[in-house]
Amino acid sequence: MTRKDSALTLLQISDTHLHAAADSRMRGVTTYATLLSVLAHAQRDPRWPVDAILATGDIVQDESRAGYERFREALEPLGVPVYSIPGNHDDPKLMSEILSSGSFHLGGELRHGRWSVVLLSTFLAGEDAGGLGPARLQGLRKALAAHAGQHVLVAMHHHPLPMGSAWLDGVALRDAAAFWSVIDAHAGVRAVLCGHVHQAADRTRNNVRFMSTPSTCAQFLPGNDFFALDDRPPGMRWIKLHDDGTIETEVSWVPRA
Ligand SMILES: [Fe+2]
Repeated sequence: MTRKDSALTLLQISDTHLHAAADSRMRGVTTYATLLSVLAHAQRDPRWPVDAILATGDIVQDESRAGYERFREALEPLGVPVYSIPGNHDDPKLMSEILSSGSFHLGGELRHGRWSVVLLSTFLAGEDAGGLGPARLQGLRKALAAHAGQHVLVAMHHHPLPMGSAWLDGVALRDAAAFWSVIDAHAGVRAVLCGHVHQAADRTRNNVRFMSTPSTCAQFLPGNDFFALDDRPPGMRWIKLHDDGTIETEVSWVPRA
């Protein structure tokens, strides 16, 4: 497929929650089957193929090697680079063993034309909430300084803005204020992208677009103070980053069979 312009096209998938067993169910769905349904749906979309897939955490639910291997086996045949970051349910050590070779990358950066995509780990061992801490904040500062003059998209697992759902906001990014103070100091940051919240959001804070993306499995009911499931189907987000800094994005949902 020839590209019409030099835009960077991405597909974000998030919160796949795979298990060691392919037929394991979680919150009413077989998570491996719903991941396959998302990938099949994506490949039928005119925006396919993308330049890269961003997998924004909670790749497995049970911290199992077999879950990561199944994720790799499902995505490898697509022939597209896959950039992953850990979520609270992940095991970063297993991810670095299984998802950081060949076309698979763990964290790091993706550069294309005028855009840089910075992948940021918010993983805290033993916690459902996320955090950066001084070392990661300093790494972010350095990365953004190195990309001065570029448009930047920052991708992370935990949400750095409240979703208006008390239970979810209790497991958000803890040092969100420190995170935003770094972002606010770098004019090139155009957008912040997250997973974790199993729902779509798209708003703007100080000229920076903030987007969250549905899970490839079950969704959470937006605006609910207690845990509740939404009946929306598996979803994904398409992102097209244009040279002039503009962002075209859309969430698509897998139609029910
Ligand atoms: Fe999560």
